[in-house]
Amino acid sequence: MSKLVIVSNRLPVSVSRRKGELHFTPSVGGVATGLSSIRRRFESVWVGWPGVNIEDVSSSEVELIKNRLSGDGCVPVFLSSHEVGAYYYGFCNKTIWPLFHYFYLYMDYTHDYFEEYKRVNEKFCEKVLEVAGEDDFIWVHDYHLMLLPAMLRKRLPNATIGFFLHIPFPSYEVYRLLPPRAEILEGLLGADVVGFHTYDYALHFIFSVMYLLGYEHTFGEIAVGDRIVKVDAFPMGIDYEKFASAVDNPRVIRDLKRLRRRLGDVRVILSVDRLDYTKGIPQRLEAFDLFLERYPEYREKVTMILVGVPTRTGVEHYMMLKKQVDELVGKINGKYGTVGWNPVWYLYRSLPFHSLSVLYNIADVAVVTPLRDGMNLIAKEYVASKDRTGEGVLVLSEFAGAAKELGEAVLVNPNDIDELCESLREALDMPVEEQKERNTLMQARLKRYTVSRWAEDFMDSMSEMKQLKSAHAHRKVDDKVLSSFVERFRESLRPVFFLDYDGTLVPFASRPEKALPDEELKELLGSLSRAAQVVIISGRDRSTLDSWFGTLDVGLVAEHGVWIKKDGGWETVEKLDKSWKEQIKPILELFVDRTPGTFIEEKEYSLAWHYRMADPDLAVRRARELKNTLLQLVANLNLGVMEGNKVIEVKDARINKGTAVSRWLSEGEWDFVFAAGDDVTDEDMFAVLSDDAISVKVGMGHTRAKYIVESYREVRKLLKAFVEGKVGKE
Ligand code: UDP
Ligand code: G6P
Repeated sequence: MSKLVIVSNRLPVSVSRRKGELHFTPSVGGVATGLSSIRRRFESVWVGWPGVNIEDVSSSEVELIKNRLSGDGCVPVFLSSHEVGAYYYGFCNKTIWPLFHYFYLYMDYTHDYFEEYKRVNEKFCEKVLEVAGEDDFIWVHDYHLMLLPAMLRKRLPNATIGFFLHIPFPSYEVYRLLPPRAEILEGLLGADVVGFHTYDYALHFIFSVMYLLGYEHTFGEIAVGDRIVKVDAFPMGIDYEKFASAVDNPRVIRDLKRLRRRLGDVRVILSVDRLDYTKGIPQRLEAFDLFLERYPEYREKVTMILVGVPTRTGVEHYMMLKKQVDELVGKINGKYGTVGWNPVWYLYRSLPFHSLSVLYNIADVAVVTPLRDGMNLIAKEYVASKDRTGEGVLVLSEFAGAAKELGEAVLVNPNDIDELCESLREALDMPVEEQKERNTLMQARLKRYTVSRWAEDFMDSMSEMKQLKSAHAHRKVDDKVLSSFVERFRESLRPVFFLDYDGTLVPFASRPEKALPDEELKELLGSLSRAAQVVIISGRDRSTLDSWFGTLDVGLVAEHGVWIKKDGGWETVEKLDKSWKEQIKPILELFVDRTPGTFIEEKEYSLAWHYRMADPDLAVRRARELKNTLLQLVANLNLGVMEGNKVIEVKDARINKGTAVSRWLSEGEWDFVFAAGDDVTDEDMFAVLSDDAISVKVGMGHTRAKYIVESYREVRKLLKAFVEGKVGKE
């Protein structure tokens, strides 16, 4: 049975030393609270940092911590104070955290931070290897461990690895500021599934991969070597029932009454966050200040309860924020407070679940207005807590991931203090019926997509990828399969090889004319052609193929099947027309002008628009546009629009590589057929082959071919084995 291995920086339980004693307290923050709820559903082990420095505990205490945590299914990774300084406070919280939340001026990067980040990721890797096997599902969480997926992939090549980022993935323009930007992407691509809270973040990641590493994607699947990485959005939910039913808990009921007595007859605006500069707390306080100024009738009638949970207190920007919040709270209370009324009740501490529930329940309004937030669970927890009455208003920042799902909240731009102030008024004045309507819609959504559903969805994606991998593994040409091919080849009397050229026998070059055949390839094709009929079947024009392969004894097919050279002379498969080129060429030229880096390749019976060298994002959009334009134009002509590898080509629709191969096959009695190709145009060739043919696709992706190899190098390896096999027999 496979188990689930969760890996995150912080364990759900944090260890700290107070007055000489060790304390075990539940961790706060989205990852710890969210994942804790899913553990009941899967057999799992959780690997993470216990939160205490190794120097601060004796060896007997280390054992005690290990034993205590193992009772909770947790395995600690102990870190030294130096590691915590450079990895956790440094690279994680001074470099990545600000950058990924668009606070790039706060970003502090040093080489040393990153080196330590790598080392700590390796440490986590070793610990995971102690508990995980290749059959297990390993689910890595958050920005602290972005190199870990690739490290694990190296050590456990067949394991199923998932990665989920709990913070935003910024747009490419911001991400590219990160010095080790490519290494981080490579690290993440070690996973089978990379998940984000929203589609925006997933797209930002895909674009960054495209720009920085040059990998393409198809519907969110990125081909990396011989693997596919699935990138998708999984908006994290909450344990809805837990929050909805908290109000029935006797302790919550009792504390609610007490708090109501203490507060008196005032309405409550609630604000709960870790004291983090991304959460927009000062802006919120300034808006409240403005509100009391602008609407004096609300004084003594409204209290803001502000919970600021201490967090990352060793980082300068957090210390500055603490000071700023202290001052603002003091200023507001000093300015408007009366003997019986404090405008802001400020709690600088972490609250347990039941106290938080009391606050959610008593609050008429919750203001959740981060400047940036990956998701924000507080917003969801507040809405769920209002399940029984349906009353309460959520004021939510449009920059929180949660805004994508909670569209019925009062959505605000947290940078606009005036708008924030007015939203407080709108929320306090909202008719109860409207509150209920809005909450019912949001609650229905939160009830459906709970944290368990989220985890199940992610696990399902991992299982799908596991199945896909095992299907691919069966299509790999391993030594056993290869020797059976070679054996069949040796037995054959009339073998034929149909070989695509670009991407199959040679790698792609920036411009087509640069992808010349090298000596090794020519020799290989020369030797193979002495033992079999070899046909190079390409989209290239015939003069190029002639100049490269004219001296070899091989058949040639040019322009995707338009031209065939069989016994010395070129001929066309059908009588073809080329007058259409005059109409189509100006359109392609227009796209060349509008898309820097693209160019036209003109062949006798076809026109191709190449975009390998263009800005990938723009090129993909233009390619789609061009294809649509062309498809409308060619509807009444016998023309087809084909998409190849970074190229769009127009040519006679009746002709393709399949028609050329069929013709070749029909004109001879072949007893061994081998075909290899890498792109969409080669699928036509695979489609016409009979069941006993050997068809090989180069690279990942959907294909009709029976076998898959990783690159042109592997194709050459196969061809070499055929040559050696035959020569060995002779
Ligand atoms: N939380 C808590 N006690 C507190 C404040 C917050 O347990 O005093 C929990 C809260 O219930 C929520 C999580 O911490 O589940 C905060 O997650 P969120 O996504 O809102 O913010 P993050 O801290 O991850 O940035
Ligand atoms: C955010 C991060 C979590 C982190 C939490 C608390 O939610 O995404 O990974 O655990 O903040 O921060 P801390 O630094 O205390 O772990």
